Amino acid sequence: MQSWHEIHGANGLKPGDMTHGKASGEDILVLNQGGELHAYINRCGHMNAPLDLGTFKSGVVKCPQHNAVFDARTGEVRGQPQFSMPGMDKLPPEFMEAMARMAPIFARTECRPLTPLPVETLDGKVRVWV
Ligand code: FES
Repeated sequence: MQSWHEIHGANGLKPGDMTHGKASGEDILVLNQGGELHAYINRCGHMNAPLDLGTFKSGVVKCPQHNAVFDARTGEVRGQPQFSMPGMDKLPPEFMEAMARMAPIFARTECRPLTPLPVETLDGKVRVWV
């Protein structure tokens, strides 16, 4: 059953900052985009990496694992996952062969948008409906 839950680390969150906290058994991502709070389940829409370990800049959240990019206000996908990284050409051949075997799996794994959660501030405390 859903209800409001305080996300303790989000109280006083400044514009451009993000944090995460547990609520109702879920890890919740809270970010402040231009003075507006937004909240999502803290899992990438591609392969569930924790988004708080990524970056939040210029209105987008970038996943730390394959660099998918999500709109901070809506959760829409703004950039698809990337499967190559700078310096990959210097990796051992065995690693590159393993990456080549995984490429078809990555290619068929859909990157879904993040679903916004209701979020509010009440008496200075940030609460999320989850
Ligand atoms: S897990 Fe986030 S882009 Fe792949």
